[in-house]
This record gives sequence, structure tokens and C-alpha cells, in this order.
Amino acid sequence: MSGRLLDGRAVAKAVRAEVATDAARFLAEHGRPVGLDVVLVGEDPASQVYVRNKEKAAAQAGIRGRVHRLAADTSQAALLSLLAELNADDAVDGILVQLPVPQGLDELTTTDAIDPAKDVDGLHPLNAGRLVAGRPGLRPCTPRGCMRLLEETGVALSGKRAIVIGRSNLVGKPIGQMLLAASCTVTMAHSRTVDLADRVRESDVVIAAVGRPHLVRGDWVKPGAIVIDVGINRLDDGSLAGDVDFDGAMERAAWVSPVPRGVGPMTIAMLLRNAVDAAFARRAA
Ligand code: GUN
Repeated sequence: MSGRLLDGRAVAKAVRAEVATDAARFLAEHGRPVGLDVVLVGEDPASQVYVRNKEKAAAQAGIRGRVHRLAADTSQAALLSLLAELNADDAVDGILVQLPVPQGLDELTTTDAIDPAKDVDGLHPLNAGRLVAGRPGLRPCTPRGCMRLLEETGVALSGKRAIVIGRSNLVGKPIGQMLLAASCTVTMAHSRTVDLADRVRESDVVIAAVGRPHLVRGDWVKPGAIVIDVGINRLDDGSLAGDVDFDGAMERAAWVSPVPRGVGPMTIAMLLRNAVDAAFARRAA
């Protein structure tokens, strides 16, 4: 094995400590804590776990986290009314609606209703547009976490060939834009991409975010590449698997992020980062 482990848990811990310092500074300067409100509609078991983790992490960072738990049959109008209330509440700096929302609710109508200044998921079209235009704005948490992991390697990204596998609004598209902003030459790959293995073989940076266990094989990886695995796939035996064959990738890559303990902990840390950033930006506006 030649690769080094990109330890998301360790980096996330460092980010959470930075965030806690900044959250304390916000409290000292503004006389109230940073406020992060999470809306959970329905009882999806995975979402319940994610939301509890977000709540705990917020409290540890000195952020006032609040979870609004709504019944699965909540109407779109009732959800929009809660979001309007949170938009208007000055003590609320960040709003996140846990996805997916149950059937009967429209995801886009929901995320579009969040004040872009409080949109800690970076999913509002205004924030997505700001990212594409290279202007400041709130960025989605998982891509931000990936960029921080890349930074951790100390490798200069400028001019590197990067491939993003997956084109979701939450991960693939925004990370592609962030890599472009870091002066990488970016290939956006997806389920229809022809010769994916060859595209990966020529890439210095690989971001796998498709949700297909072990899709990226070790022998696809360019020697010395950096491989970031965003996939979290539950296998039939209950175990978790990433989109990358970790052991195979470690044989050739310089750096590989594992699953679990890779990108996952970074996503929560960056959510807290976004909440504190949103709080300061709203005060400066
Ligand atoms: N569900 C899975 N990941 C996410 C995320 O990053 N944000 C939201 N709102 N829901 C999710």
C-alpha cells in the first residue's frame, strides 16, 4: 500500500474547533449565539440519524441548534409557512430542510423558499448561480468538505486534471465548479459517460459521488492521484461501502479518503462552518 489516508474525522475535528472559536466570537460580539434551524419532515430512519448528529455537533460548537420535526403528511403550505417564519426570525442564521422530503412535498419549491442568506445547504438557485459566477455565497456542505480534504493534502490543484463522477445539484455540479475555480481542468462524468475507466486513469484528482458501491476500481487510479470518495452505500450485509474500491485505490493513489470516516464527518463540520459564516455575513450586510 502506498497511499495515505485522508482522515475526514481528524480534519472535521479541526474544522469544528475553528467553528467553535468563531461561534464564541459571534456570541461575544452580538450578544446571542449563532442559530441553526433544521427541518425534518417525516420519519425516514437515516434522516433521523443525520439530523440528530447535526443537532449534537451544533451544540458542541456553541451553536444554538433547533430541530423542527414535522409529520410526514405535512402540507406544502404548512412547510412554507414554517420557512417564512424562520426567514423572518432574526435569531435564525441558517436553515436546512433535511432531504429527501416525503412524497407530496416538492423539493424545489421547498428549497427555493429559504432565504438565500440563510441557505446553509447552498441549494437556492441564487447561491448556485453565485458559485457558477465565481461570486461569494453559501456553498453546499459536502463539496466544501471535499475541497477542505483536498487542501489537507498540500497538493497544489492549479492545472491538475480532475474528474467528478456524478452530477447531482448537492454534490457533483457544485464540486465541479469549485475545482474549476481552483484552476483544475474538470471532467464531469456520469452514468452515460463512455470509457469512464480511461477518463479516471488520466485524472490527478478523482471525486466519486454516484452512489454505486466500488464503481471506481483500483486499477483505474492514476499513480499518485488523490481520490475522494463521497459515496455512502449500504450493502445487503448491512455494512457501508464507498464508490471506490478503497484497498485497490490505496495501492496506486497518493491519498484516498475512506468510507466511513472520510467525507461524511466533513459534511457536518462544513454545515456548522456555513451557519457561522451566514451569521457573520448577515450582520455585515
Ligand atoms: N440529505 C442527505 N444529504 C443532505 C444534505 O447535505 N443536506 C440536506 N438538506 N439533506 C441531505
